[in-house]
Amino acid sequence: MKTLVIGGGGREHALALALSRDPQVEQVHAAPGNPGMADCAKLHPVDPMDGEAVALLATELGIDLVVVGPEGPLVAGVADAIRAAGIACFGPSGRAAQLEGSKAFAKQVMAAAEVPTALAHVCDTAEQAEAALDAFGAPYVVKDDGLAAGKGVIVTDDRQAALDHAAGCGRVVIEEYLDGPEVSLFAITDGETVLPLQPAQDFKRACDNDEGPNTGGMGAYTPLPWAPDDLVADVTRRVLKPTIEEMTRRGTPFSGLLYAGLALTSRGMRVVEFNARFGDPETQALLALLETPISALLYGAATGALGEVGLPQWRKGAAVTVVVAAEGYPESPRKGDRITGVAEADAIEGVDVIHAGTAIDVDGNLVTAGGRILAVTATGKDLSQARARAYEGIALIRIAGAHHRTDIALKAEQGTIEP
Ligand code: AMP
Ligand code: GLY
Repeated sequence: MKTLVIGGGGREHALALALSRDPQVEQVHAAPGNPGMADCAKLHPVDPMDGEAVALLATELGIDLVVVGPEGPLVAGVADAIRAAGIACFGPSGRAAQLEGSKAFAKQVMAAAEVPTALAHVCDTAEQAEAALDAFGAPYVVKDDGLAAGKGVIVTDDRQAALDHAAGCGRVVIEEYLDGPEVSLFAITDGETVLPLQPAQDFKRACDNDEGPNTGGMGAYTPLPWAPDDLVADVTRRVLKPTIEEMTRRGTPFSGLLYAGLALTSRGMRVVEFNARFGDPETQALLALLETPISALLYGAATGALGEVGLPQWRKGAAVTVVVAAEGYPESPRKGDRITGVAEADAIEGVDVIHAGTAIDVDGNLVTAGGRILAVTATGKDLSQARARAYEGIALIRIAGAHHRTDIALKAEQGTIEP
């Protein structure tokens, strides 16, 4: 099978790497990709937001399966353009991607499908925002309605900061605060069959102990030794399947990856958000343990044949991903710093260095080019070994001013998380 991955972040590098290791896959191409992906894919300088250009590239290359990674192209309808060219595509239509593209839309779908989620108000004016904040009380949760790369949400006890965030966004969703640990549960679907992956956990705050601003994700691990045994079955029955059925009922069937961000609150499981694509960096950890050939899952979803694929199988052990972020991330990441130590980290047993915001400068050096620069993903026989290997890799990578969290998967390893 000839495959083309659209995008150039960590998730896309992890997808391209998994495809390159799949015996069913002969070729992996990427547009635009990143310097790390050059080792496992042929890169093409095509704009991932330009559906016509992507479809043309896929046609010229004789691609059998296009995998659209990021939410931007999905919401812009890039998967529609690829399918219109008669090529199988993993990723929802632009209309179905509204499940991620608009938080207000996602809330409507959840209400119709009776999916448990936080109570919420959609607010278009300062007066509405003020009324909603006072109705729920602190801690305040204010979300930009549209796409914001994980940075459109604030959770704060400061009423003025909540009001200021709302004023800066336009339409916002203000909702009740959800306590309890968060879980990312992904499902691959063709619009009918729903195959849940193993649960993972993401670390959204920039600093240790869940302090600092929200980010796109600073690290992840899987599996979750502390999660309730029936979590996957429960979420499949009460969240994933009803949502997929509701999307079909609305005439916007959803195929691709449905990402349920969940909070296991004191009052039960609630959906925090949906995304319409693989999560980053959870995907890096998940794909490191996936045993089922990934092409079978993605192609099955893209062609409506997922029912023939069977539940994904997983290797034993654990995987941990630690993100290295640039100085100033998430507010204003600095670019252009030299990166060294990648090959040394990559050589550690069980370790893959996954690139995201990297580039090659005019002198041929690897330099930083984005907020989340790269991630070290390690597998091990258990969380403790996977963590140790990941941080061994992190210690070898040198980037001026860069920061990472030191506590990814730490509480899970210590057994101090309570669902
Ligand atoms: P979202 O973009 O909706 O996933 O929100 C980003 C992050 O903000 C989530 O992963 C949570 O850590 C936090 N968050 C979002 N909604 C809530 C909520 N209702 N209560 C508490 N924390 C939340
Ligand atoms: N890991 C969070 C996200 O992908 O949105």
